[in-house]
Amino acid sequence: RRVADAADVADLRRLAARRAPRMVFDYVDGAAEGERSMARAVAAFDRVEFSPRVLRDVSEAPTSVEVLGRRIAMPVVLGPTGFTRMMHREGERAVARAAERAAVPYTLSTMGTTSAKDVAIAAPGGWNWFQLYVVRDRSRSLDTLALAREAGMDVLVVTVDVPVAGARLRDVRHGLTIPPSLHWRSVLQAVWRPAWWFDFLTSEPLRFATVEGAPGDLAGITNLMFDPSVTISDLAWIRSAWPGRLLVKGVQRVDDAKELAAAGVDGLVVSNHGGRQLDRSPTPLELLPHVVDAVGDRVEVYLDGGVRSGADVAAAVAFGARACFVGRAYLYGLMAGGELGVRRVLDLLRAELVRTLQLLGVGGVAELSRDMVRLR
Ligand code: FNR
Repeated sequence: RRVADAADVADLRRLAARRAPRMVFDYVDGAAEGERSMARAVAAFDRVEFSPRVLRDVSEAPTSVEVLGRRIAMPVVLGPTGFTRMMHREGERAVARAAERAAVPYTLSTMGTTSAKDVAIAAPGGWNWFQLYVVRDRSRSLDTLALAREAGMDVLVVTVDVPVAGARLRDVRHGLTIPPSLHWRSVLQAVWRPAWWFDFLTSEPLRFATVEGAPGDLAGITNLMFDPSVTISDLAWIRSAWPGRLLVKGVQRVDDAKELAAAGVDGLVVSNHGGRQLDRSPTPLELLPHVVDAVGDRVEVYLDGGVRSGADVAAAVAFGARACFVGRAYLYGLMAGGELGVRRVLDLLRAELVRTLQLLGVGGVAELSRDMVRLR
């Protein structure tokens, strides 16, 4: 099967598992500890029940929405993911280009393997956002912000759910290092995934573009670099260093959402990092309406975690999300087939969203409302 034949994201996930070495696939596919947060995030979307209207004119079903003052083609943002060139040699460039083509934002991670400047060169017409992790050396974080700004990025996503690294047990069991190194296990995997290893060994060496990271296991690198003493008061200096829009990603309680809204952020992402941090944390889709009720009139509320289809996007928007961030969905496409794979994911999300709107009897994303959806 080829990328173009993939009928849904699950097909691309299977293709990805065949192309990428097990340890790379598992770095994307896995989550923290017992992986309950991730499983529950996905299961919540299985519990969605729609209440379709009939006999409505649905010949048009526009999907575009306004986020942070700009129109995008559909309520989807490609979320930040670290070390993206490990998934495919084109990495962040491929993802940014596919986002540009689909007219949705792309978020470059602090842990990215392509610089902000190179992303801007790859996708000059795209709306490229930047995600910040605050590192111990604050001057380094300030430099990182300056480089993102110089590259034309005007939305900052500050991720707050990584005071320390989560325990990704699949990575521990594989002995995954960043970058992957050749030891007996990876040599064995190379036999089965020669195309990936060929790309890996012949492309630009994998390294973080904006942070200093000695090779090692990801948790070790994270804990060495990230500052676990960051508090809400740090938003002040981040704000003063960032004239653009500011979102905080990783909100998991209503009271924190209220505090952040009062602190003047432009938006919040209800997220548990795709279940990669605290296991048994609140399920984003379940928490979303509560956060929307508390602060939705003051800030834009986004959701991520478990979004694998356009119908999932429709459900999240019906529950009050301005848009969804997606992570694994596009990484499966990237691993399966580089930029073409990410394009396929975005085309699928878009087609599924349109069809869901039409079958729901709504004439566009703007008409989605909470009475059209419930959790069984
Ligand atoms: C992530 N995520 C993430 N988030 C972030 O703020 N900075 C980062 O560097 C990363 N890195 C990263 C790597 C990989 C491989 C994954 C899968 C995820 C979290 C990501 O932005 C998002 O919150 C989740 O992926 C959402 O869940 P789904 O869509 O993957 O279910």
